[in-house]
Amino acid sequence: MSREITVLALVGSLRTASVNRQIAQLAVEAAPVGVSVTIREGLGELPFYNEDLDTPATVPPAVTALRAVAAGADAALVVTPEYNGTIPGVLKNAIDWLSRPFGDGALKGKPLAVIGAALGRYGGVWAHDETRKSFGLAGPRVVEEIKLSVPIGTLGGKHPRDHAQLVSDVRAVIAKLAVEAR
Ligand SMILES: Cc1cc2nc3c(=O)[nH]c(=O)nc-3n(C[C@H](O)[C@H](O)[C@H](O)COP(=O)(O)O)c2cc1C
Repeated sequence: MSREITVLALVGSLRTASVNRQIAQLAVEAAPVGVSVTIREGLGELPFYNEDLDTPATVPPAVTALRAVAAGADAALVVTPEYNGTIPGVLKNAIDWLSRPFGDGALKGKPLAVIGAALGRYGGVWAHDETRKSFGLAGPRVVEEIKLSVPIGTLGGKHPRDHAQLVSDVRAVIAKLAVEAR
């Protein structure tokens, strides 16, 4: 039997009632057998990226902890809204911390997929494309063909887990990511 694949989920919204966190929670629940998804909270506790802080003697504990969980995961799933046509700052800041040490970041070479939801009619596709571009420079192996941008209005106020098609789509995303990680 093959070993369990672990997926680190990063959410680009800090809001308690975040639809994107709900989708990440759905990924936890809908992951196929043999795959576990863990949401990494606390991206808001990362200080703004600062090269002066990014030395062995001064790196902030929140960064060390994030890099450690990233290093321990087989793959990563990013679930993010769109803010003003692009990546929310909290997520971009996490990308910057994860991109260093240059050429040897904690997600180096690991498959990474970007999905999410936003209020606009295209479901945040600009932010998703920009997140793929940025992570593509930062070290992970972005799985470009995994795409899922959900216009929040299509959820009709219900939790994502109450939409059979979305459950199926999110399960397929995790399954594909696991194949890439094996
Ligand atoms: C600062 C800000 C900027 C936003 N910009 C966009 C945008 O460019 N495109 C979009 O579709 N929605 C935009 N929205 C609406 C978000 O898609 C919506 O608030 C969404 O619910 C946020 O995701 P969350 O539920 O996971 O927090 C913006 C919201 C905020 C607070």
